Amino acid sequence: MEVRRDPRSFLFFIILLLLINSPEPQQQSFNTRSRYDELIQREWDQLDVLNRTQYGDFNVSKKKWLNISGCRDADGFAWDMLPSAQEKANAHGRRALGDKWGSVLDGTLHERGGEEGRLPVYRNLSGYVQGEWVRDPSSRVRHPEDMGNTTHPAKDPFTNSAMGFDRNLTGTGGPFRVHLTELEDKVMVDVNKSISEISAKVVVGDDESFGGNWWEFYVHGVHFRDSGHAVLTTTSERFAGIFALPHFQLSHGLHDTSKNFLNWTIHETIHRQIHRPFPVWNPWTSSAAGSNEDAVGVTHHCEFVLYLQQPPSVQTMDMNWLEHEMRFPTGAPLGHRSQLSMSMVGFSPDCGYVIESKGPPDYPPSEAMHLVGSKIEEYNDRARHSIVAFAIAFAFQLSFLIKQMKETATPSMRSRVSFYTIATMALGDGFTFLVLIFMYLFLGTAQLAMYSIAFVALFSVLAHLRFLMDIWSVQAAERARQERQQAPAVPAAPEVPAAPVPATSDAPLPAADAFGTPATPAAPPPSGLPLPVTASRPPPPPRPQTPILIAPDQDDPLSDDDTPLLPTTNAAATTPTPTQAAPNPRAEFGALYSRFCLLLIITFFVTIQFATVRTLYRSIYFSILSFIYLSFWVPQIYRNVMRNCGRALRWDYTIGTSVTRLVPIAYFYLKEDNVLFANTDWQTCAVLVGWVWIQIVALVSQSVLGPRFFVREGWAPPAYDYHPILREDEEGALLPLNATSPSDDAIEGEESSRSAGEAKNKGKKVFDCSICAMDIEVPVVPAGGSTDEGMVGGTSMVLQRRMYMVTPCRHIFHATCLEGWMRYRLICPNCREALPPL
Ligand SMILES: *[C@@H]1O[C@H](CO)[C@@H](O)[C@H](O)[C@H]1NC(C)=O
Ligand SMILES: *[C@@H]1O[C@H](CO)[C@@H](O)[C@H](O)[C@H]1NC(C)=O
Ligand SMILES: *[C@@H]1O[C@H](CO)[C@@H](O)[C@H](O)[C@H]1NC(C)=O
Ligand SMILES: *[C@@H]1O[C@H](CO)[C@@H](O)[C@H](O)[C@H]1NC(C)=O
Ligand SMILES: *[C@@H]1O[C@H](CO)[C@@H](O)[C@H](O)[C@H]1NC(C)=O
Ligand SMILES: *[C@@H]1O[C@H](CO)[C@@H](O)[C@H](O)[C@H]1NC(C)=O
Ligand SMILES: *[C@@H]1O[C@H](CO)[C@@H](O)[C@H](O)[C@H]1NC(C)=O
Ligand SMILES: *[C@@H]1O[C@H](CO)[C@@H](O)[C@H](O)[C@H]1NC(C)=O
Ligand SMILES: *[C@@H]1O[C@H](CO)[C@@H](O)[C@H](O)[C@H]1NC(C)=O
Ligand SMILES: [Zn+2]
Ligand SMILES: [Zn+2]
Repeated sequence: MEVRRDPRSFLFFIILLLLINSPEPQQQSFNTRSRYDELIQREWDQLDVLNRTQYGDFNVSKKKWLNISGCRDADGFAWDMLPSAQEKANAHGRRALGDKWGSVLDGTLHERGGEEGRLPVYRNLSGYVQGEWVRDPSSRVRHPEDMGNTTHPAKDPFTNSAMGFDRNLTGTGGPFRVHLTELEDKVMVDVNKSISEISAKVVVGDDESFGGNWWEFYVHGVHFRDSGHAVLTTTSERFAGIFALPHFQLSHGLHDTSKNFLNWTIHETIHRQIHRPFPVWNPWTSSAAGSNEDAVGVTHHCEFVLYLQQPPSVQTMDMNWLEHEMRFPTGAPLGHRSQLSMSMVGFSPDCGYVIESKGPPDYPPSEAMHLVGSKIEEYNDRARHSIVAFAIAFAFQLSFLIKQMKETATPSMRSRVSFYTIATMALGDGFTFLVLIFMYLFLGTAQLAMYSIAFVALFSVLAHLRFLMDIWSVQAAERARQERQQAPAVPAAPEVPAAPVPATSDAPLPAADAFGTPATPAAPPPSGLPLPVTASRPPPPPRPQTPILIAPDQDDPLSDDDTPLLPTTNAAATTPTPTQAAPNPRAEFGALYSRFCLLLIITFFVTIQFATVRTLYRSIYFSILSFIYLSFWVPQIYRNVMRNCGRALRWDYTIGTSVTRLVPIAYFYLKEDNVLFANTDWQTCAVLVGWVWIQIVALVSQSVLGPRFFVREGWAPPAYDYHPILREDEEGALLPLNATSPSDDAIEGEESSRSAGEAKNKGKKVFDCSICAMDIEVPVVPAGGSTDEGMVGGTSMVLQRRMYMVTPCRHIFHATCLEGWMRYRLICPNCREALPPL
């Protein structure tokens, strides 16, 4: 048996996970320093080129090249396509700004002054926009060999030159999303606050690639705040994009403005880079944080130049005031405001494609509206709301769980609940906890509220674990008993005297023929099940769960209100609870706990890996994961069948848990602009909801029609049937005994004087229920009567049979009465014989 492992292993795995996911430490090889110095020197040279060149110095049609990487003739980039890409960007600007575009281009916008000079555009672009891109027909497909040999990746022996580049968009369209960030104290802004640095994360996918390939990269550039216009570019070893940025501008004026600005900001950035304690290989890197592509110096991706244009807001509103109010809300009504929206032209100088955002005038507005999204403040609001909604769902879920745990406080109740159902839920909550804690890996931002929810999730995990431990200790005892039953050869004799036999249960073991099905001294049961008491079985195990008496007050807080009829046992005579008596289950549970953590960490790790694969694989993975998670009722249904017991869980718990666990998943599948930018897919969502619905229906019908109504006879192991069809034969051997036995007179009171068994009408008999002292009318098949389907198998018959319960000792009770009783004791209220658990 496995020894219990230290819970600190959990911590260890988290640290391991962090280590695996953290960027590799940059190895300081002997030539690293000189390489770094070389790199800084190259940056100074490139800045010098930027400083010295004028508008028009980079004009491929005039054979004018820039002496910086990527812009030389020998580099073999498709710069002859730049003018057409610029023309497209120009058209976007003109369409968005109308006649004011002219003054934007010649830089005289601010000279217009007043209302004229102030375009109603957001000046702080922090936020995201998303939409579709379409490929321009002038695009080409270029191959790695087309590019000059100065930066050819084939010179690197470790890479396969046949491998295409990343971000090589060859399809005709796909999704496009830009996350823009302009942080007030981080970005540099010129004195007039008219131009600022901007960086953006671009997420672009290609619909026509196999499995929906997509890429994520960063671009850096300048933002002209007054006109809502921005030009961004990637920068790498192969392409000194940021140094050539002024030459990509659309006019002489914009070139000069951006050149002056970049001359200053690049200067600052290189200074900062030099004074950093550890090398920063590329301050304008396009690869996601954590990758050290720049240090290695191999770049196998297409470079990208991006033009963004924000259309002016249709409302005439003071945009400065609006932005300030959004950022620092004072409660003033903002009214209806336009979303953050943009149009985009993208150009890859090396891979030779030009893409545009999809929208008017080429496409009708009903089909696509370029890129739309929201400012970061609105996004944060939305994220906050979803987090609060998630927290509420969690709170409900917890309250349902606590109610259920209170109800499931007795061993007999605990043994009904499926361990794996609860374990799946605990895994789900643990997964949520990890996702919330490591959310910054996915989102890049983290909110304080998220961490509070993470701790609610952690609390939920702990509550579930506690519940699991209770269930485990009860069921471990049960399993131990079954094992002993299955190994009859092992002489259990020495154990018997030591067994803590309940003082009150001095009744002898049930005789083999106590119940009317006489000659079935079934051989040791095929598998783990409470047997009909008719079966001969070995002596009671030392820690039996079945015949133990537990004083109701001892571990059940609910006992006072719903068990008025309990003949209180001598409290001193109660046996120890299974948890006390069985140290083994705890140790086993410890091992199980480590396995739980391991499974959780592995799932989480695999999920992180799958978060960055192609769209198709990603959606398949998440659908499968959701499906497995949402199958949490299946083990319960199975357990109900195997144990022939239908009522393990409360209704509100079943429904509430299903809903609160389904809602967050449905949110990501159905909500268009959800906070994680997950693709919506209502079909998968419908399948998942339907699956949960089927499970609930199965649970309901198990409770109403019997746990095995959909299972063919013989598929499940035999179990004692508390709802038998009553038949009247000559001796009355199959009928329950009359409830009126002298010893029970006191309990039953007056009612018992009425003769039980008096037939009110044909096919019915009346008995006494000794728990509630009421009559119980049961249908009885007359002796030799027909056993045709209509009589015995009909639905009404099935439902009627669920109304009463017959014990192996042939006492009959109302189903509700005996079920209530059996939540506390598994002995017959009449004759104190042991009852098989439900
Ligand atoms: C930029 O050019 C000016 C002359 O046009 C020169 O004085 C200055 O030193 C240059 N700056 C850099 C950083 O090269
Ligand atoms: C490039 O040269 C062509 C032909 O001389 C000219 O029409 C065009 O305006 C120039 N482009 C730039 C950006 O100077
Ligand atoms: C380009 O710049 C490099 C240094 O950065 C220099 O060695 C080379 O001579 C320059 N080429 C031309 C054509 O100016
Ligand atoms: C690049 O190709 C040219 C001819 O195409 C050749 O002369 C030159 O040596 C090559 N340079 C390198 C570094 O391979
Ligand atoms: C881009 O993809 C196309 C089609 O797969 C391929 O032929 C081409 O060589 C790729 N280009 C680059 C630069 O990888
Ligand atoms: C833009 O707005 C965001 C969010 O309110 C803020 O964090 C950022 O500092 C602002 N940037 C500028 C340049 O004002
Ligand atoms: C700032 O604006 C003033 C006039 O509005 C202009 O004279 C000055 O050159 C501008 N400064 C910069 C750095 O653009
Ligand atoms: C670029 O910056 C340097 C130093 O910051 C300055 O000397 C030079 O004049 C600037 N060049 C231009 C063209 O503004
Ligand atoms: C049970 O009741 C039936 C009829 O109601 C009666 O004939 C029978 O003797 C009773 N049996 C016992 C053991 O009381
Ligand atoms: Zn009753
Ligand atoms: Zn009995």
